[in-house]
Amino acid sequence: MKITVNRSAVIDAPIDRVWAVLRDFNSHEQWHPAVDRSEMENDAGGDVVGSVRRFCLAGGSELREQLLSHSDREHTLTYCILDSPLPLLDYVATVRLKPVTDGNRTFWEWRSRFRAPGDRAGELEGLVGRQIYEAGFTGLRTFLADEGALARPEPPGASPPVVETVEGELLPSRAVTVTDHGGPDLLLLSDVTVPAPDPQEVRIRQTAIAVNYLDIGHRRGIVPGLELPGTPGVEGVGEIVDVGAQVNGLFPGDRVAYMARAPGAYAGIRCVDAGACIPLPAGVSDKDASTLLKGVTAALLLGRVFRAAPGETILIQAVAGGLGHLLSQWAKSMDLIVIGTVSSTEKARFSRDHGCDHPIVIEDARPLQADVMRITNGRGVDHWVHSSGARGLDDALACLSRCGHCAVIGGRDGQPISLDVNLLKQRSLTVSAPVCFDYTDDRPYLHRLAHQLFAKIQNRTIIPAIETFPLGKASDAHRKIESRQTTGTVVLIPDK
Ligand SMILES: NC(=O)c1ccc[n+]([C@@H]2O[C@H](COP(=O)([O-])OP(=O)(O)OC[C@H]3O[C@@H](n4cnc5c(N)ncnc54)[C@H](OP(=O)(O)O)[C@@H]3O)[C@@H](O)[C@H]2O)c1
Repeated sequence: MKITVNRSAVIDAPIDRVWAVLRDFNSHEQWHPAVDRSEMENDAGGDVVGSVRRFCLAGGSELREQLLSHSDREHTLTYCILDSPLPLLDYVATVRLKPVTDGNRTFWEWRSRFRAPGDRAGELEGLVGRQIYEAGFTGLRTFLADEGALARPEPPGASPPVVETVEGELLPSRAVTVTDHGGPDLLLLSDVTVPAPDPQEVRIRQTAIAVNYLDIGHRRGIVPGLELPGTPGVEGVGEIVDVGAQVNGLFPGDRVAYMARAPGAYAGIRCVDAGACIPLPAGVSDKDASTLLKGVTAALLLGRVFRAAPGETILIQAVAGGLGHLLSQWAKSMDLIVIGTVSSTEKARFSRDHGCDHPIVIEDARPLQADVMRITNGRGVDHWVHSSGARGLDDALACLSRCGHCAVIGGRDGQPISLDVNLLKQRSLTVSAPVCFDYTDDRPYLHRLAHQLFAKIQNRTIIPAIETFPLGKASDAHRKIESRQTTGTVVLIPDK
């Protein structure tokens, strides 16, 4: 049976002080109450990867453990058990430290994975978690206090130090709340308190929150999903404050981006499902990472929905918009021919700089068929990205090539769309209605697409165009998008 043990604590000492002790693989006998004696085989140093320590537990049993990795830069080490009297099979553990924001305390995570016989799983999980890890936290605190390193030593006679985790604190923050469906004026900033994360959540201090057209539909009440009173927003970027008890692989201080079906992103601090979070690589700024949802949508449209190939043609409605300008750059990087609609010559210029070969400035109710057929030599487009809803769908189908595919990704008007399948049959057309979340519930797939996006941002194949607004001005941001005055993507920045 596979077992994961994950324990964490905050130690009241700076990270350098804590790491100075823990980095020595042979230091346990000084501070861990369960360890009686410890020595390195072949006199190896306590920071030498591959070295083996042999130690004797207080009860007399002996273990051998090997250091597998050691990083002074990351304040982390990994080790495995080579020999043990207990059936801790394939046991690999990681010790990782992170500075707490105030700089004077250290977050310590100790976690392991191993196999154990089913009838002993509970016993061994408890033994590792309590008698090794939690006892280790207590032991190190006492050791540091004895050295006089702690700022606040325990008073005499106090009960044994309690493992202090970050969990449980309510954090003050500000969030945009909508109490009624309607116009942008209903987006109001107010004070909130954010509870500790649930076991599978992380709490994030956000730095960049992208506005999606979906948020406007939620606010207006034409797209279901935002319960009132509620906070709009389905994606964000920030730094993890703390993690729930069952979260693996994410740590306080990690920079992450997420996208989530459930709204709630227009906030300074929020809790979100850990599975939706993607750690950010160093070369991607928080603002650029806030294009996650749109970038991932671009990737799945091209790669999965259309299975687009070089030389094919794609038409993107609102090509100068948030999704549009990322999709056109991505399509161009795949050698597609990109046609796009825009509502002004300024936007046409902008879209040309962002991968669109043929911007078409649309005028009210003028069909596009003549322009599209001219550009494609009468063939029509292979792929059409449709966001105007019922309006213009007939025109879209008329512009498709034989076997062409129209993906209806949005409906600005919120009107129902009817479809005559016999019309599709006449030229083997496809109409699909992809929604990004249905694809990205597959987390490995989401991570793959996100990393493709980040790689394209890092190597500047995609350069996001971003206009920022303070979080408290979310109403201005919505107003500007709805009056078609934005190019690129709009991002809200919470107050410091
Ligand atoms: N299905 C999915 O998974 C998915 C994922 C992401 C986005 N989307 C959809 O893709 C579309 C683009 O999303 P986005 O967040 O990047 O928004 P956006 O394109 O930045 O939205 C603003 C742009 O939409 C165009 N627009 C056309 N008619 C409009 C109208 N009546 N009112 C306001 N704007 C109008 C305007 O461009 P012009 O002035 O140049 O026309 C405007 O600049 C939206 O429909 C969204 O719902 C779907």
